[in-house]
Amino acid sequence: MRDAAPTTIYLKDYTPFGFTVDDVHLTFDLSPNATRVTSRITFSPNPDAADHTFFLHGEELKLIRASIDGQPVLPNVTDKGLTCDVPNAPFVWEAEVEVDPAGNTALEGLYMSNGMYCTQCEAEGFRKITYYPDRPDVMSTFTVRINGTEKVMLSNGNPTDQGDGFAEWHDPWPKPAYLFALVAGDLINHPDRFTTKSGKDVELNIWVRPGDEGKCAFGMEALKKSMTWDEDVYGREYDLDVFNIVAVDDFNMGAMENKGLNIFNSSCVLASPETSTDDNFERIEAIIAHEYFHNWTGNRITCRDWFQLCLKEGLTVFRDAQFTADMRSEPVKRIRDVIDLRGRQFPEDNGPLSHPVRPESFVEINNFYTATVYEKGAELIGMLKTLVGDEAYAKALDLYFDRHDGDAATIEDWLQVFADATGRDLSQFKRWYSQAGTPRVAVSEDYSEGTYTLTLKQSTPATPGQDTKQPQVIPVAVGLLGPNGDEVAETRILELTEAEQTFTFDGLAAKPTPSILRGFSAPVILEHDTSSAQRAFLLSHDTDPFNRWDAGRSLARETLLTMITDGAAPSGAYLDGVQAVLRDDTLDPAYRALMLGLPGQSELAAALHDGGTTPDPQAIWSATETLRQAQAQHMQDLLPRLHGEAQVSAPYLPDADQSGRRALGSATLSLITRLDGGALAAAEYAKADNMTLQLSALGCLIRAGKGEAELQAFYDQWKDDRLVIDKWFGLQVSLADPEHTATVAQTLTQHADFNWKNPNRFRAVFGALAMNHAGFHHASGTAYELLAEWLIQLDPVNPQTTARMCSAFQTWRRYDEGRQTLIGAQLDRIAATPQLSRDVTEMITRIRGA
Ligand code: BES
Ligand code: ZN
Repeated sequence: MRDAAPTTIYLKDYTPFGFTVDDVHLTFDLSPNATRVTSRITFSPNPDAADHTFFLHGEELKLIRASIDGQPVLPNVTDKGLTCDVPNAPFVWEAEVEVDPAGNTALEGLYMSNGMYCTQCEAEGFRKITYYPDRPDVMSTFTVRINGTEKVMLSNGNPTDQGDGFAEWHDPWPKPAYLFALVAGDLINHPDRFTTKSGKDVELNIWVRPGDEGKCAFGMEALKKSMTWDEDVYGREYDLDVFNIVAVDDFNMGAMENKGLNIFNSSCVLASPETSTDDNFERIEAIIAHEYFHNWTGNRITCRDWFQLCLKEGLTVFRDAQFTADMRSEPVKRIRDVIDLRGRQFPEDNGPLSHPVRPESFVEINNFYTATVYEKGAELIGMLKTLVGDEAYAKALDLYFDRHDGDAATIEDWLQVFADATGRDLSQFKRWYSQAGTPRVAVSEDYSEGTYTLTLKQSTPATPGQDTKQPQVIPVAVGLLGPNGDEVAETRILELTEAEQTFTFDGLAAKPTPSILRGFSAPVILEHDTSSAQRAFLLSHDTDPFNRWDAGRSLARETLLTMITDGAAPSGAYLDGVQAVLRDDTLDPAYRALMLGLPGQSELAAALHDGGTTPDPQAIWSATETLRQAQAQHMQDLLPRLHGEAQVSAPYLPDADQSGRRALGSATLSLITRLDGGALAAAEYAKADNMTLQLSALGCLIRAGKGEAELQAFYDQWKDDRLVIDKWFGLQVSLADPEHTATVAQTLTQHADFNWKNPNRFRAVFGALAMNHAGFHHASGTAYELLAEWLIQLDPVNPQTTARMCSAFQTWRRYDEGRQTLIGAQLDRIAATPQLSRDVTEMITRIRGA
């Protein structure tokens, strides 16, 4: 059912549910097209609630029967749920419903993937399983019985009984319905065990489809590392006898933290050296950690309502980033996260989809699992930690776990804990949660007679629904370098709280060079008119690894922008500066590989737009190509040596050391390919014995306009491995030259393996299309048209994945009139589609603007 006029939900309208749930018993009689779900739920009137209307959510359910205290009742049923007269005292509600898992293509609720039953309930999917108060502040223990013929039948908590044709589970921890999960299928187990620091023995299992059992070992190690880390760093132990992870092929997201039964997109847990890249391994380790960490930050302490989503997601992203930094390299992780923030969150925050980290309204909550809620939400935790210090942060977190264990909490609760633990007034800090938009911090400097003065001015542009902004608390980490490159003032945190503020540094013998926003201490855009000589100076001397990298990045950005706008030649300061860093073999290869990266073309488009120039995607692409070629030529003597140094002779390990060297190997191979036309890449492809090397060589060949034979060989080699074939689809689109991108994508959609109902496969092609900046924004508009056509096709099947992909159009107002007209026409075409989902309707409405 589609809504004619979807309703908007507001944070300010929150009221508690009229009843508490004392316990839930569910019985599933599995059948692909007609699964019966019987619920027995004890409700009591909630003394804290004013309204005692008995409304249970329920969608796409066939109600077979309902009773209260054993007496049949006839509830009033709509397409959103049911209401019923109930006693003014505790009562037992029973209902039997029928659902159609095999017909569920939206992958929300109970559905089937490759013959296996699985569930996805966050945010509001439980209402597609049975009638229930499907809201995170209603928490209960669950007992589940599954009747079926599947070999493996799992649910949350601990197993209590099993036998021929059934399995029973009990979860003793009260939880909201969004954490419910059920899996049933002929799965194979990769088992292990873990002993918690208080000596509790936990059974660990990763369940996969037959054939995938060889790809579980890495995930299992990551799980054990995560469990140890959460004990060591946050003092958090696991709290059940068993922890199950299941891999499924059809999944809208990356993974889900259901209590004791995490469900993963198979791409986010299955790994082997032959089929996964180093980046895949790192991401898998991080996602396993993330979902595991939710056991405390999300499950034991959950959200009062979905407006508080950043309470669990921002904090858990922050925690998984700390974990990755500890397991691997802190600066490398920070740099990668900032690249991602600038590449995904900044465009969101500076376009029509801009919203606060804690939104105040939504139509479809699934549209708010955004880079802003997640990544900016994590930045807010980082800023809090910077402002209060590490010790106070630890104290506040202990208080948070003590005070709110078992609660459905709010951002107010979270900030109160910090206020109580530190005595700090956080009312101004709270604006970070309510004001959308990326703050700009403009810097001006002055030096006279030993005193250096830094003036910082903050401002945040208007965003949809928010015309004016109040000053925020911005922690700006600053260090100063003397003329010979020595650090003359160590990192100090300047707390910018006013619209404009001046900070002084005394006792300086000469005018220093400032290193501002070290470690990227706040998610802001720094506006600092410095010379390229100053940037080059920081690139060679800064002691802060993040800012040293960022100095190179801003030199690259600057030279690209002048190449684009003035037809300037590539900057020698940039080329020399980067070459000097690359020569320094005391530096981590992973870090040096990052130094070779260029700002993304979309980021350049944003910078041009910000500076008042309409970006021309083709010109951006050409400038990027020219700079790459110049880099290759400039470093031609150094490249073979670097490439040689980066070789790994030891057996493959997906660790920081080896993957860093392979990253440098790949970055240098790509430059060498510009000089040798692909000779080395072809040789490397032929001898590659792991996916990282194979894919990087193949990418170089494709970019050089070669590699047709290798692409075919790659397909023949991997045609039975769906995760590798996703890469095969994605690579061709992301590396296609702008003239042919749309055609390549269109041709791939005709391929027999283009199984478009699978979100991973759909995203492989269309995610890559949207990311290929110049190809997507080709002046002909064919890529816009192709994407719109497929979004319209996917929407009735899977609105959630469709809605997420609409964000490809979010930057449309940056471009010239011609492109805006073309995109506008596609947005209109999508909007005019009959029966458009609420998810996509909301996205297109917001993107089009008021
Ligand atoms: N709780 C989410 C999964 C989720 C998201 C469910 C949206 C329903 C709707 C999970 O913890 C999560 O955040 N997963 C991320 C990966 C993570 C490493 C940031 C995802 O799935 O992309
Ligand atoms: Zn999460």
